[in-house]
Amino acid sequence: MSKLLVINASPMGDNSVSRKLTASFVEKYKAQKGDDVVVVEHDTASMNLPHADGEILGAYFTPADQRSPEQQAHVDRSDAIIKEIKEADAIVMGAPMHNFGLPSGLKAYVDHFARAGETFKYTEAGPVGLVADKPVYVLATRGGDYSENGYPQMDFVLPYLKTIFAFIGVTDVTLLQANGLAMGEEAVAQAIEQTLEHIDQALAA
Ligand SMILES: Cc1cc2nc3c(=O)[nH]c(=O)nc-3n(C[C@H](O)[C@H](O)[C@H](O)COP(=O)(O)O)c2cc1C
Repeated sequence: MSKLLVINASPMGDNSVSRKLTASFVEKYKAQKGDDVVVVEHDTASMNLPHADGEILGAYFTPADQRSPEQQAHVDRSDAIIKEIKEADAIVMGAPMHNFGLPSGLKAYVDHFARAGETFKYTEAGPVGLVADKPVYVLATRGGDYSENGYPQMDFVLPYLKTIFAFIGVTDVTLLQANGLAMGEEAVAQAIEQTLEHIDQALAA
């Protein structure tokens, strides 16, 4: 049995390209790994995760035996998210670009899993990730073109995700991008087709 964690983040429902791509990825992954793949799915667009405010961060830093029930609930929420990430054998994440960065629901999800003492720790030698390395596939969707032929310096999605995964210990990250999704139907069809090919190549590697 292997566990695949699927994270979707687009608020665009059936019109979302990243949701189409993650769905295709799951089919391809299952076809490759066999039927005993357990798929755990999250939709950060509808999870309504709270911002990591002072109350939540305060809960994390309060010793377990001194937490109020409300503080414990905040810790439990983060613990559950972290457990799934740690238990996953592989992760696929749909990552739409919103205002050059992550959609806020996906950023909130990151804020709930990046937790000192749980997914990373600081040592005298610097920060150390506490999550075992595993394959992560990021399927990035964007209206403009942030490939080498476009404006890669304006892409704060892929460098950010690569950095935050590495920070928690996960470096086996494949970054795939579907560019030009605001440039007409033909461009959308071409970007999807190309990304599906790249998924095949990544899974065959
Ligand atoms: C609120 C919002 C902000 C966006 N900001 C950007 C942006 O900064 N740059 C860009 O290239 N595309 C931007 N787009 C376009 C999306 O990246 C594009 O529609 C992509 O397909 C989103 O993925 P999805 O189809 O899975 O929702 C934005 C779209 C929305 C809805």
